[in-house]
Parts: sequence; C-alpha cells; structure tokens
Amino acid sequence: MSIRLGDTAPDFVAESSEGKINFYEFLGNSWGVLFSHPADFTPVCTTELGSVAKLKNEFEKRNVKVIALSVDSVASHAEWIKDINQTQNTLVNFPVIADPIFEVSKLYGFVHPNASDKFTVRSVVIISPDKKVKLLITYPASTGRNFDEILRVIDSLQLTANYNVATPANWKNGEDVVVIPAIKTEDIAAKFPKGFTEIKPYLRTTPQPNL
Ligand code: BEZ
Repeated sequence: MSIRLGDTAPDFVAESSEGKINFYEFLGNSWGVLFSHPADFTPVCTTELGSVAKLKNEFEKRNVKVIALSVDSVASHAEWIKDINQTQNTLVNFPVIADPIFEVSKLYGFVHPNASDKFTVRSVVIISPDKKVKLLITYPASTGRNFDEILRVIDSLQLTANYNVATPANWKNGEDVVVIPAIKTEDIAAKFPKGFTEIKPYLRTTPQPNL
C-alpha cells in the first residue's frame, strides 16, 4: 500500500532506539516528520541523521517531532548512533525506528522494489497535527536529503494552513507570498491589510501575512 497527500497517516507501534513507539502518542498535537533510510552504518544516512540532530532547535521552534526509520535492529541502531554522534559531532536526539520486517515501511510505501528489494528508499513524510499527510518526497539511496528544504516546506505548510496564500518558487520565510486564486482581486485589500501587487489578474503578491 502507498500513501498519498491528504491521506490519514497510518498509526503503528514499533520498537525504536528510544523504546516502544506508539506513533500517534509520540506525535501528540505536534507536526511530524517521518524519514526513512536504506540501512544502518551507511555513509549518506550517517550524515543525514547528524544533520537532523543539529536542527533540533529549528524543529522544536516549529512544533515538529522528528522520527527516523531504518530496517536494522534496535541493537544495531544503538551502535550506529554512537558512530553518528562521534563522526557528526552531535547527539542523535530523536528516535530511530527499527523495522527489520518492513512493517512500517510497507505501511508507508518506503520499499520501491524496482530500486531495491532489500533497502528502503529515502522518503520524507510530513504529517500535520490532524494526522494528515502533507508532503511526500522520495530520494534515491545515493542522494542525501536537504533538511533546510524540509524546514522551508514546514514554514510554507504552517503559513498556508492559516492564511489564503501560497508560497512561490524558492520562497523563504519572510518573503512575499501569492494570494490564492479563489480570492477575488476586489476582496484582497480587506483580507490583506499590508497591501498587494497585481502582476496579472491571476498573479497577486502580498507581504507574508503572519509577520
Ligand atoms: C548511504 O547511506 O550512504 C547509502 C545507502 C545505500 C546505498 C548507497 C548509499
């Protein structure tokens, strides 16, 4: 089974480097980032887990709980985490799910058999507090992910959940946004007191409304 945007994120119970995880209890009312890895003791994954650990404050600021998944055992994760802490000069501060029989991976579609039937791919799932799937991205094993991009998407998701705006290409927090097409141009001034620019009837920009 694979999941799609808008689906309810499947709940599960799994062992992890921080003990048994009941996924929904772990998430509570926070946003969630679940990200999968091909295997323990692999170079790209080692740098990825280190990078995420260093972004702890950024995830906390945004009320996001992070959880990784790799198909090796809890005992393997414990040894690997020692290596990550040492080589990446950080402390892994989030759980790593042990998924040796691919239970969670199959639930979330992290196995792409034509890429590999032994390893999970590098997927990221962002889940909103109402447990809906808001973003899915998948990278090949050979390409490490850009976690600043994950933070950027979270900023966009949290903004667009509350305002009638969307974020344009390469947008970063603080930059102008676009007014969604459903808002008529004559209604923009009342809804966006910071003003707006009409570049085309369908392309209207406004300063980021939550700043
Ligand atoms: C890695 O994490 O470095 C990796 C894992 C599987 C294949 C290639 C690279």
